Amino acid sequence: MAGQATHPPRANPRGNNLKAAGIRPPPRLKHFLDLDRIDPRTLRRILDFGAAFKRGKPPKGRAKPLAGRTLAMIFEKPSTRTRASFQVAMQELGGQVVVLGGPESQLGRGETIADTARVLSRYADVIMIRTDDPAKLREMAAYASVPVINGLTDQSHPCQIMGDIMTFEEHRGSIQGRTVAWSGDGNNVAASWIQAAARFRFRLRLACPKELAPRPAVLAWAKGEGAEVTLVGDAAAAVAGADLVVTDTWVSMGQTGDKRRRRLLGPYRVDARLMARAKKDALFMHCLPAHRGEEVTDAVMDGPHSVVWDEAENRLHAQKGILYWCLAD
Ligand code: CP
Ligand code: NVA
Repeated sequence: MAGQATHPPRANPRGNNLKAAGIRPPPRLKHFLDLDRIDPRTLRRILDFGAAFKRGKPPKGRAKPLAGRTLAMIFEKPSTRTRASFQVAMQELGGQVVVLGGPESQLGRGETIADTARVLSRYADVIMIRTDDPAKLREMAAYASVPVINGLTDQSHPCQIMGDIMTFEEHRGSIQGRTVAWSGDGNNVAASWIQAAARFRFRLRLACPKELAPRPAVLAWAKGEGAEVTLVGDAAAAVAGADLVVTDTWVSMGQTGDKRRRRLLGPYRVDARLMARAKKDALFMHCLPAHRGEEVTDAVMDGPHSVVWDEAENRLHAQKGILYWCLAD
């Protein structure tokens, strides 16, 4: 639990005798926690690494730059894409993976995140965690002596948006100055889109029920950064003339899908009529898993605007960029 740890974090990966042995301490850890914590040039660099791996032209010509390195992944929530894509990414870069589920590890019996961080840092070179409370992610980063990657919390999903930006740019060129429309729940994925709008300089219009609007703090941060992020009343207004339309599930992991929630979100469903209000060549994205017939119709998921499978694939490539940046850049 946050705040239960009793010792300050150690700076050295794998041991505390480096200084005594006259070995230089490692440089500051490169955590991938949230898009607001990483500057735009670095984010662009990470995407460039990912694209280079995808093209088969790895940075410095090293196809297996993470040989001998280990990624530990902790899942306190379910996953298909994040788990599979990180595992394949690490393996293709020459490294290996250890996967821990929340309930079947000692975390499920109350071992603290801080202690888990210190233990895993002795086995692994990088840790990815998917959890509920973002305080747990911060605690992991505070107590790990290796880089920590955010694999989703209740408040953000930055790895997803890196893959999404890569996907948009592959299809349509630079996202800077373009218009992205979000229609649906103002959830964790929406929050990372808001942060991305500031970092990648695109216009973002969000249509969400006011009861399910994004957290004011994330909107205030984006505004402070000069980002063009606006909340608009209805989905049609958000989507009008957009280059990209994005939505996500109405019921995120850990939430209950009551009738009221579905009633509130009904008007934000992305169907062919709504999509027709966007630019003629607009793209449609969804982080998946999709609930067809709820937040998106089959006609849109399987229609000409949809790039959801490319988007899912690009989790793999973007995360190679993240892993390479954390460990080998
Ligand atoms: N989009 C995404 O993160 O999918 P998973 O929950 O399957 O990892
Ligand atoms: N908002 C969704 C994203 C899943 C990848 C959730 O948190 O369940």
